[in-house]
Amino acid sequence: MKGIILAGGRGTRLYPTTKVVSKQLLPIYDKPLIYYPLSILLFAGIKDILIISTPDDIKQYSDLLGDGKKLGINFYYKIQEEPHGLAEAFILGEEFIGDDDVCLVLGDNVFYGALLPELLQKVIKSKNKATIFAYPVANPKDFGVVEFDDKGNVLSLEEKPKEPKSKYAVPGLYFYDNSVIEIAKNVKPSPRGELEITAVNNEYLKRKELKVEVFSRGVAWLDTGTPYNMLKAGSFVETLQSRQGIYVACLEEIAWRKGFINDEQLRKIGEELKQTDYGKYILSLLEED
Ligand code: G1P
Repeated sequence: MKGIILAGGRGTRLYPTTKVVSKQLLPIYDKPLIYYPLSILLFAGIKDILIISTPDDIKQYSDLLGDGKKLGINFYYKIQEEPHGLAEAFILGEEFIGDDDVCLVLGDNVFYGALLPELLQKVIKSKNKATIFAYPVANPKDFGVVEFDDKGNVLSLEEKPKEPKSKYAVPGLYFYDNSVIEIAKNVKPSPRGELEITAVNNEYLKRKELKVEVFSRGVAWLDTGTPYNMLKAGSFVETLQSRQGIYVACLEEIAWRKGFINDEQLRKIGEELKQTDYGKYILSLLEED
């Protein structure tokens, strides 16, 4: 399975902060926002990851993350010239995806939960053609909304509906089989001129190939859409980290626990960062072990 992170967009809702800095590079407490969705792909065991961003921002992502070798994985980069919508990721990523299945995660979505790695493994093993998730929110109008019956069969999907049919938003994490490339190519732009991910999901629904997994209470999906929500997400991470002494989305730790890198490689990264709490945390993992 391949992974794609979409870190494009203009981030206009966060102006002026995002006027010259890509939203997904802004910090959520002590690390760039993109680390959080990246951690999800690592937890899922995905080692080939395509990062898509704007012509102006792509270099910053490659400066930040490099080729991935330090984490025992591979990062690739692709420019999205204009924000044509989420589904364009599969068209831009066609060559990268090759014959594989693919997981798309949006670069500004923060997930947290001890049960998450297990859920991701379950989805990957299931060999479903398309899996989306559902999460109850107070403001479903701001998201893609999924309606389903008590057996988990999807009844309807709508993008930012004025009158939502349920309180379940669809988070920015999607698993698809290889036919997503062809489906994305046939999606027509929506009234806002975008290739909507909801249109892709509706096509899978039409084919009776769409599954929905409800995030249990143990999983948090945090909104980073406004300055206030960014602050709240940051303080959530700070609270967890200082209270439990366990880091959220420490990519080096996940890569090490997954066996992508060994003790020596982890130590080297920790040494480089040892003047920070982040580096000290990395080194402390080796001591505990
Ligand atoms: C996008 C999707 C929407 C999804 C949301 C999750 O919306 O179009 O279906 O619920 O991401 O973050 P956007 O916020 O990019 O407009």
